Amino acid sequence: MARLGTADNFLSARGFSAFSFSRISCISRFGNFLNSKPKTKNSKLVSALLDWFAVNARDLPWRRTRDPYAIWVSEIMLQQTQVKTVIPFWNRWLRELPTIEAAAKADSAKLHKLWEGLGYYTRVRNLQKAAQQIVNSSRSRGDEAQINKKSETPHVVSYKFPEKFEEVLALPGIGRYTAGAICSIAFNQPTPILDGNVIRVLTRLFGIAENPKDKTTNAKLWQLAETLVGRAVLCPPRRGEDTAPYHCSHLNQSLMELGALVCTPRNPQCMICPVQKLCMACAENRVEELPNLGKREKATARRFAAFVIERNGKFLVRQRPAGVVNAHLWEFPNIEVTGARLDLPEIFKSEFGGVPEKISPLGTVKHSITRYRITLEAFTASSKRVSPGNGVWKTPAQMQSLAFNAAHKKLASAAAKSILSDR
Ligand code: ADE
Repeated sequence: MARLGTADNFLSARGFSAFSFSRISCISRFGNFLNSKPKTKNSKLVSALLDWFAVNARDLPWRRTRDPYAIWVSEIMLQQTQVKTVIPFWNRWLRELPTIEAAAKADSAKLHKLWEGLGYYTRVRNLQKAAQQIVNSSRSRGDEAQINKKSETPHVVSYKFPEKFEEVLALPGIGRYTAGAICSIAFNQPTPILDGNVIRVLTRLFGIAENPKDKTTNAKLWQLAETLVGRAVLCPPRRGEDTAPYHCSHLNQSLMELGALVCTPRNPQCMICPVQKLCMACAENRVEELPNLGKREKATARRFAAFVIERNGKFLVRQRPAGVVNAHLWEFPNIEVTGARLDLPEIFKSEFGGVPEKISPLGTVKHSITRYRITLEAFTASSKRVSPGNGVWKTPAQMQSLAFNAAHKKLASAAAKSILSDR
């Protein structure tokens, strides 16, 4: 599927003509000279942000489409994950599962494999539940088949992505932020968004010193975000824009983009900020102090020992059950170690029944899950008698089609290499 369009597609998909881009320097240098003069702080902010976004927005693949499904997938992937990490995952997902129907029907192993490495796997299971809900409720309404022209690969669908904010919000795994992002970016509705980047931008712009997690402060920030995106509706077309500009979409994305590129947590680039003159924190020299996120919850260290056990070219692996962290993902048998002593033969015996002939260190992987800093110490082990418990024996080739969490995927690669180097 040709997902990446030309630059022109990119510009026109976002409501700009090439003409508007070639004239953009005039806009930034002389301000918004074609439109009526902005008066209030909020309307000045909105105009400046829209003009800045038109020139500075990163060319991200999900910005080349208005297909709500593709935008929804991007928003779910972008939760807790950096843009540069998400890009190849998003491209692969849309290639493998280009429609909501395909996502609804995909088997669990394929879904987890497509998400392997992104973490927080509840997200992908909710995405599928929501896709199934969309397909089923369209079916029960008897929706007519139609062509989804917003997709890069227009296709016949017999379901309709909901367009009402409340209906989007009611889908599994979609909270206020994601519903607001989908409705504004795909449908250009004035629905606010508030994520970490937007919180940072707004607390600095409006000099909000209270903790954004406090209920009243959080409500105030949502209100500000709503006011700004509401202003975007009123904002006249910028130079070169058509009569139906995507201002709500662009305003929301400009807030996120400013937070990601300029108004960063450390070393914010106030000198090049398009709204520096309107920023209270900058005027009061308090930029680095905001947002006031309070004391960080202390990280907890946890230690695990994993066993990489090989027999006749196969390794013992197991699938994590439903309802636990990393549910449904595969892993090497492992156990949490408490206390300083690591009695490996004893652990091996209690886990696998047999006495190990040889245990050798394979390596240590450090990673984090939520507030846990995990050290996973891996050992290769051999024994004539191993009771596999709930594990199964898999060849390295078979392991490649299973979804492992990031730390155990490293062990799987090391295990495969250890077999190759033995031969
Ligand atoms: N973070 C969350 N949503 C985003 C988007 N649409 N583009 C870039 N970064 C984002």
